Amino acid sequence: CGIVGYIGNRDSKQVLIEGLKKLEYRGYDSAGIAVFTDNGLEIRKSKGRLANLEDKLKSEPIQGSVGIGHTRWATHGKPSDVNSHPHTDNSSKFSVVHNGIVENYLDLKEELGAKGHTFVSETDTEVISHLIADEYEGDIVSAVQRAVKRMRGAYALGVLTEYEPSKLVAVRFASPLVIGIGENENFIGSDIPAILEYTRNVYILNDGEMAVLTRAGVELMTTEGDIISKEIFHVDWDLVTAEKAGFDHFMLKEIHEQPKAYRDTMMGRIGADGKSVTLSKEIGMTTEQIRGISRVHIVACGTAFHAGLVGKTVIESLARIPVETDVASEYRYRSPIITPDTLVIVVSQSGETADTLAALREAKRNGARVLAITNVVGSSVARDADDVITTWAGPEIAVASTKAYSSQLIAFYLLGLYLAQERGTIEQAQVAEIVEAMHRLPDQVESILEQAELYKGVAEAVSKHDNLFFIGRGLDFAVAQEGSLKLKEISYIHSEAYAAGELKHGTLALIEDGIPVIALVTQEDLYEKTLSNIKEVKARGAHVLGIANAGYEDEVAKSVDETFSIPRTLPLLTPALSVVPLQLLSYHASLARGNDVDKPRNLAKSVTVE
Ligand code: G6P
Repeated sequence: CGIVGYIGNRDSKQVLIEGLKKLEYRGYDSAGIAVFTDNGLEIRKSKGRLANLEDKLKSEPIQGSVGIGHTRWATHGKPSDVNSHPHTDNSSKFSVVHNGIVENYLDLKEELGAKGHTFVSETDTEVISHLIADEYEGDIVSAVQRAVKRMRGAYALGVLTEYEPSKLVAVRFASPLVIGIGENENFIGSDIPAILEYTRNVYILNDGEMAVLTRAGVELMTTEGDIISKEIFHVDWDLVTAEKAGFDHFMLKEIHEQPKAYRDTMMGRIGADGKSVTLSKEIGMTTEQIRGISRVHIVACGTAFHAGLVGKTVIESLARIPVETDVASEYRYRSPIITPDTLVIVVSQSGETADTLAALREAKRNGARVLAITNVVGSSVARDADDVITTWAGPEIAVASTKAYSSQLIAFYLLGLYLAQERGTIEQAQVAEIVEAMHRLPDQVESILEQAELYKGVAEAVSKHDNLFFIGRGLDFAVAQEGSLKLKEISYIHSEAYAAGELKHGTLALIEDGIPVIALVTQEDLYEKTLSNIKEVKARGAHVLGIANAGYEDEVAKSVDETFSIPRTLPLLTPALSVVPLQLLSYHASLARGNDVDKPRNLAKSVTVE
């Protein structure tokens, strides 16, 4: 979601709409604004694209110089007018825009409900407006401070109250928020582009900080009430760069967003004890039903299918259920054996891929229970499935999927653990061990990203070739397939992924002097076998790049030409790390070839034809 706010002397709706346009990349399920007018605090909101809100504002105009706005990417509650922001309380004197997820909103809702508050939407944000109204004793700043103390989760907030119409209060905790400083006018925005048209001077809030904006100035403080001062950050980039948060391409930005995507996808799904996984909100099956699953089919297209290949190993090894994986366009036509105790898992970033949707419908027609893993709340796939696990990767813009894929892996780990717990195929200690290792993944990805430049040189060398191979065994083979697809999609270099042990049964004939082979060597029980396969290609003149676990890189280095190491985690979780170097490699190879990284030829982000 994206938020924006304005206090000054202009027509605020113009500023808000312009800001929201810049934020539409953060979601476009619905949009809304709240403005102080001569009649008090008025709200206009509308489902769908921003254009719908603009139309509404033509027929129901609104005029005032203080306001807040929001563009939504549905999380709690489907996209609808009533679930759109801004939200208000029963007195309609308070209005809130929010980006983030309040984890304990159901508890707060119940408590406020007992005090007589009534709610019209399913959102966590509406609860925030009621909470602030409930805490209000004549001072909006202290009311907001008391309210946020009671909230758990992530939030960036913009708050207005009719009682104090010359103040706009903004708070940040774990969701981004910047304050724009103007002359006799001030701004808030989820990111810099939202306000860059009006000012280049900003404060960037940190977690636990808040700002009180008036026309005359901005006061900064902590949510504890301690006044703070901050340096003004002067923005010297242009708007196009700014939309990409300083990255050259959306793809690179999205690669860098993976630590956050992992954290967000795990958030609220791991028990407070850190030893269990809870998906009971996402999956409406009883323990009995979960125990009754006799087979799983994972169906998806493209990158999502590759996530499914990892998902197969995860579910089979943890929950001990046989799993088949299919590309969606094949699934329907091979008359798969679907019984009422078959669980069909469809995976789709967009939730709109026609092939996947058709496979989902076919599975349902045949009586299967369908679970969707998708990145878009309210998408067709999400609506048609019986159960939905949302990956909280945030909007993905680059056609080549990165953070959506890796978040799908996180979803599969959570799902595998949950199914295993319910079926009694896992000890609590093992759950705790895996969960603990999962919590370390975001920082481990971060450490790979810190060395992102390492992949530039090798990518440039790779970009001079027309053919190359990715090899690996087990989960390394699954990741190799994704690495190969990524390279093909954006660099247009032909590559093939091979199970390392299968190469010698034919494909080895293609290995000739100097051909690059990217070998993944991260699966501990398969190290030696993979090293033997590497020797086979080396002997035929291949130039081998090895990706190895930290601690084992020296051993791998003896057999390959160049080694890249990734942090050590459990073998099952390694794909969530090993894919990152492959993404960076493809990105830089595409750049080196002068391609349009974010919009590769012939492809579309979401393919809605079969
Ligand atoms: C398109 C995209 C791919 C994507 C596939 C599945 O072909 O170009 O990058 O992996 O669709 O998309 P989905 O939204 O269903 O995950």
